[in-house]
Amino acid sequence: MFSKFIAFMGIATIAGCGTKDPPKHAHQHRFDDAAKWSQVFDDPKRDDWQKPAEVVTAMKILPGMTVADVGAGTGYYSRRIAERVGRSGRVLAVDIQPEMLKLLEREITRYGVSNVTPVLATPTELHLQPGSLDLAIMVDVYHELEYPHETLAEIVRALKPEGRVVFVEFRGGDARVPIKPLHTMTEQQVRTEAAGHPIEWVKTVRDLPWQHVIVFRKR
Ligand SMILES: C[S@@+](CC[C@H](N)C(=O)[O-])C[C@H]1O[C@@H](n2cnc3c(N)ncnc32)[C@H](O)[C@@H]1O
Repeated sequence: MFSKFIAFMGIATIAGCGTKDPPKHAHQHRFDDAAKWSQVFDDPKRDDWQKPAEVVTAMKILPGMTVADVGAGTGYYSRRIAERVGRSGRVLAVDIQPEMLKLLEREITRYGVSNVTPVLATPTELHLQPGSLDLAIMVDVYHELEYPHETLAEIVRALKPEGRVVFVEFRGGDARVPIKPLHTMTEQQVRTEAAGHPIEWVKTVRDLPWQHVIVFRKR
């Protein structure tokens, strides 16, 4: 149950909530050793607490959608979303680590997935077309961002009208979550930071073992 994912997650902190300055998330991980991290992200025990099928269902993905998996890592979610969007849909698997995207390509080849496109981003540019996405997701990513405000602004620009952005984070303030508190986010933190963008809160799924799924829609 207590998987490598949890054991390896280090320290991140959230700062700047409720101030005039854009929020900063200090202590980002570097994911340079992609091979090591792939064992963490693709640890089979992860499914026990991550509940990927429930999370993807909460995302309300339909065939034909264009979805960006921002901070895709090795594609743990990209592959699952690809199944839901089907042949007429597309997943843009965005990451700043070229080595991570190489592993993602290896995995999508292994699983015979043809509708996932790897996209190499930088900490300041995601390379997503404005108004092109039905949905963007960040799973265990938002708290890691070096420029959270700017990155979220770019994601929101890339959404179609009424497009949605979904945050999946370890729940802050919940003693049952076996991860360093500084590596978690409360729903309020996410909603406070999201308030600086033209998106409105839609719903929060709170019944996963350790995480919450927080959904916003573009206004
Ligand atoms: C904790 S991992 C999560 C990976 C994946 N979402 C999953 O659930 O398995 C965070 C990922 O975000 C990526 N990342 C960090 N900053 C990023 C940014 N500004 N834009 C895109 N990806 C980023 C890292 O390289 C890493 O692959």
